[in-house]
Amino acid sequence: MKTSSKLKVIELFAGVGGFRIGLEGWKGKSSTSNFKKKISNKIPFEITYSNQWEPKTKRQHANEVYLNRFGPKGHFDISIDDISVNDLPIKCDLMVGGFPCQDYSVASTLRNSKGLIGPKGILWWQIERLLSQLKSKAPKYLILENVDRLLKSPAKQRGRDFAMMLRSLDNLGYNVEWRVINAGEYGFPQRRRRIFIFGFKKSSALSKYLSKYTKQDIVESKGIIGKAFPSSTILKKEKLISEKILLPKYLNEISTDFDANFLNAGVMINSTIETYKVSPKYDGPFSRLSDILQDDDIDEEFYISKSDESKWKDHKGAKKITRITKGGYEYNFSEGSMRYPDDLDKSSRTIITSEGGATPSRFKHVIECKMNKKKRRLTPIELERLNMFPDDFTKLNDITNTKRAFFMGNALVIGIVEKLGNSLSSYISKL
Ligand SMILES: C[S@@+](CC[C@H](N)C(=O)[O-])C[C@H]1O[C@@H](n2cnc3c(N)ncnc32)[C@H](O)[C@@H]1O
Repeated sequence: MKTSSKLKVIELFAGVGGFRIGLEGWKGKSSTSNFKKKISNKIPFEITYSNQWEPKTKRQHANEVYLNRFGPKGHFDISIDDISVNDLPIKCDLMVGGFPCQDYSVASTLRNSKGLIGPKGILWWQIERLLSQLKSKAPKYLILENVDRLLKSPAKQRGRDFAMMLRSLDNLGYNVEWRVINAGEYGFPQRRRRIFIFGFKKSSALSKYLSKYTKQDIVESKGIIGKAFPSSTILKKEKLISEKILLPKYLNEISTDFDANFLNAGVMINSTIETYKVSPKYDGPFSRLSDILQDDDIDEEFYISKSDESKWKDHKGAKKITRITKGGYEYNFSEGSMRYPDDLDKSSRTIITSEGGATPSRFKHVIECKMNKKKRRLTPIELERLNMFPDDFTKLNDITNTKRAFFMGNALVIGIVEKLGNSLSSYISKL
């Protein structure tokens, strides 16, 4: 495929490049010269602009990895707030990004809001800013990723933040398909549940093509997400809240008892929203945690020391304790037990950013080695495999194992991106 005919992609919040690996098909062992694109001439996507910036840290570790693997061409290591629309490529077909989850909440803007354009620092609004400044050059397609609680946030006005995003996407001329996907339910090695939001211009040929299907068909099997991740409907809510969402002009016009009740899938087509509760339709093989384990050469640092064994058990165990808040208020805290060691016969639990380091913790994975029956944490390569990154993708001279684990806690399961990319490119080739 000629470079000129590839879909041009802007990758925002790039981290260590999960979207890029999935869309451009990077494979191979990263620390060697074998790291190269898979059948590169057939890959229909090309990242022409990327951006990554970790606020408040001097050393930009994720950027170091990104630059080392992909080179400096088109990569900007500045905060998204500082991106000028004039620096973006003239031609862009698709914009992708997993924007930081703690930042989507627009809660703090509610009182002072002057409208949809909230204050700087709320990173969703930076995506919105770029799309609106690009005007007619805005990409036809968007793929955004976030934690699934985005659908419910904030707690006191359930769904308001997602509603505001739908509203601004509608204003910017996009139709939207969304789905919460648990990668483990489609055979991938990690049970990682994330919302994927696919935007496509109302004026696009794809919108025209999909207009012959019902919204339910789009969600279940005909949309870009629906085709990549087929599902069946358990519950449907029609035209749910289009008015509530799309009519208020300003954030402070949204009533204080706003409750949108978005379900795990949905579409917004020409300003009409339907949401569905769906369950996955998948009859392929399932990966197990045992499938991704390294057999040998495990460094001593990953083994649980005898002296820490009881602390690990404590963290993983069930508890019922009385706690006291800073203000002196006493409350009962309880939590159930976690599997210890982790179950090897299932896909793994979600990796979180604090996965690395030897300090005992409830959420870090601990496995029992088949060979020596000793317990240990997962290695950086195993964490990369759980996200389907190439082995040692994040290995660089002085990047610590804890940092490498942090990257994987932030990243996404590459197999999902590959499937979404295939679904989009196969539609486009038909249009
Ligand atoms: C959820 S992670 C996305 C990870 C990415 N998908 C990957 O595969 O590694 C969000 C990323 O946004 C970056 N970020 C946070 N604030 C930013 C800002 N103001 N400008 C640019 N990037 C930012 C974080 O450093 C982090 O790498």
